[in-house]
Amino acid sequence: MHPYLNIAIEAAQAAGKVIRFYQERFDQIAIEHKGRNDYVSQCDHEAEAAIIKTIRKYHPNHAILAEESGQHSGDKLCGVEWIIDPLDGTTNFLHQFPQYAVSIAVREKGKLTHAAIYDPVAEEMFSASRGAGAYLNQFRIRVSEQKQLNDALLATGFPYHDFSYIDAYLASFKVFMTSTAGIRRAGSAALDLAYVACGRVDGFWEFNLKPWDIAAGALLIKEAGGLVTDFNGSENYLETGNVMAANPKLYKPMAQVIGQTIPKELRR
Ligand code: IPD
Ligand code: CA
Ligand code: CA
Repeated sequence: MHPYLNIAIEAAQAAGKVIRFYQERFDQIAIEHKGRNDYVSQCDHEAEAAIIKTIRKYHPNHAILAEESGQHSGDKLCGVEWIIDPLDGTTNFLHQFPQYAVSIAVREKGKLTHAAIYDPVAEEMFSASRGAGAYLNQFRIRVSEQKQLNDALLATGFPYHDFSYIDAYLASFKVFMTSTAGIRRAGSAALDLAYVACGRVDGFWEFNLKPWDIAAGALLIKEAGGLVTDFNGSENYLETGNVMAANPKLYKPMAQVIGQTIPKELRR
């Protein structure tokens, strides 16, 4: 295993320990309101600190982009950046709805190279390194073989604080709702992407995500044989925040629905 992946896994486990600690002391957690329907808890901050401490122990010079503490600059020459969401699914966590995860990715010279997504409730560690496949715990995973949209189970995320693209989203939702076997909105984009990678769902789409929601899951899906793009079919999803992902057979019918329902100016 590559040393960076080892560190990502160690850091994800350290954050998982913090999350499990607070899971059992639920009534004692301090919560702040970041914006409309956007919360952050003491648990998010402490999980992030545990991740950064682990990375810094081995690589004090690497750059870090973390959801709660922002950009930590690093040595430009080495070109390594860690992209962290310490707790993806905070709203679920705060409601004791057991679907949330730690997401950590490594980007080297602009390319995603290592990823770990850890679900501390199910104790599932999803991991991948570029060119070396994707794993769930110690088992190799692959995207599903589903060819038909009609039989597909999709995952998605609803707009929840920026409602400016709600009509476009609902138009795509309406078509997917009436042309698939079902849609799940479980509340953690990182786990949604990990579930595409291991074939529990056949595809995923969401508007307006952040790089830390997407980075690790995107590499997992690619290493599991799937496709990940923005709504234009290009690789700029970390910049645009719009993501669609599927197994290679289902990608085309999904992209057709996105193409037909999302207006051109929002298709990026
Ligand atoms: C959120 C979750 C959710 C998605 C949101 C994200 P957070 O992350 O991934 O599924 O719909 O767009 O912001 O705020 O819980 O880390
Ligand atoms: Ca997130
Ligand atoms: Ca988060």
